[in-house]
Amino acid sequence: MDKMIYLDNAATTAVEPAVLASYMETTKRLVGNPSSLHNLGVVSNRILNKAREQVAELLNAKADEIIFTSGGSEADNLAIKGTAWAKKRYGNHIIISAIEHPAVTRSAQWLETQGFELDYAPVDHDGKVIVEEFAKLIKPETILVSIMVVNNVVGSAQPIKKIAAVLEDYPNIHFHVDAVQALGKVAVEDFMIDRVDLASFSAHKFHGVKGVGILYKKEGRVIDPLIHGGGQEMGLRSTTENMAGIVSTAKALRLYLEKEKDCYDKKIRDYLYEQLGTYENVTLFSPEDTKNIVAFGIKGIRGEVLVHAFEEKEIYISTNSACSSRKKTEKSPLENMGYSPELAETIVRVSLDYTNAMAEIEHFMVVFNLLYKKLSKV
Ligand SMILES: Cc1ncc(COP(=O)(O)O)c(C=O)c1O
Repeated sequence: MDKMIYLDNAATTAVEPAVLASYMETTKRLVGNPSSLHNLGVVSNRILNKAREQVAELLNAKADEIIFTSGGSEADNLAIKGTAWAKKRYGNHIIISAIEHPAVTRSAQWLETQGFELDYAPVDHDGKVIVEEFAKLIKPETILVSIMVVNNVVGSAQPIKKIAAVLEDYPNIHFHVDAVQALGKVAVEDFMIDRVDLASFSAHKFHGVKGVGILYKKEGRVIDPLIHGGGQEMGLRSTTENMAGIVSTAKALRLYLEKEKDCYDKKIRDYLYEQLGTYENVTLFSPEDTKNIVAFGIKGIRGEVLVHAFEEKEIYISTNSACSSRKKTEKSPLENMGYSPELAETIVRVSLDYTNAMAEIEHFMVVFNLLYKKLSKV
């Protein structure tokens, strides 16, 4: 192998050449601010609306249900804080799962400091929300439920339809799903369902550019903005629109969803999962029905050690980097799945994509075998 092997696609993906071309073309061609009254503004506004319509169609939504943001984190913050502020006179209780991304967890925890009450829906050993336990947490004060579609640490897909079925009895609760890791792994129609009110996406996870996110907000649901100003994005996110980012995101989304059936090769995922499972000291943290993520650890070896050892061989994987910002008293997603802190520290994550070939994973396993023997001796 004479080229690097990139297996960190859940962290970010490489921009597709056609997406980059669209980004550059839009930057060069569109001078006008879409809010300007003159012709250049009108042209920009028309193209902005077109991009919004394309994104909406691909996500089973209407154009005015699509709000462009600066990324998945902003979309999550807007959904969560925006709901809390808009609905605080009706209640102050929020439920999130115990393994959400920090963009959700930290937003909800900040709201706790502002007088809101937060509960965590427990997950099982596979990293899936236990729906019956979740249902018990709902109370008259509950205004928001936020559950991710696909987990970014272990790759588990959440029972969104079952959670939605529980929430049918509570039509006033906003149901937000963080779908940042979901596209290409779970079919859009399986989570963009009627009972879902808000959904977050991020362009750089589907071969778009960094710095563009999408928040779907169902018509009729009310949230408050985080950013006030000129009233762009239906008054929910003021600032002059990132035209090149938005137009190229519409392109990236279309290209990616066209590939929906093979956003990653399940044969490669299965091979990797099976091979790793044959090593005595390997813990597989991902469930058997994981999506494109295979998270595992070698007992006694910290994740960082393995990441750097692979890096020396130009193979790029990651740890559960979100750990770094966690308070000492707070449990990691793996601990919430029932693993000990010692095992949780061993985690590394391989995340696949359509760019990965079987030969790369075979090479990965050769390197892994050498590292396993070397590290086991230490
Ligand atoms: C599940 C999930 N939510 C939110 C985010 C944040 O997205 P962004 O990097 O676009 O802010 C990520 C990024 O890793 C993620 O995996």
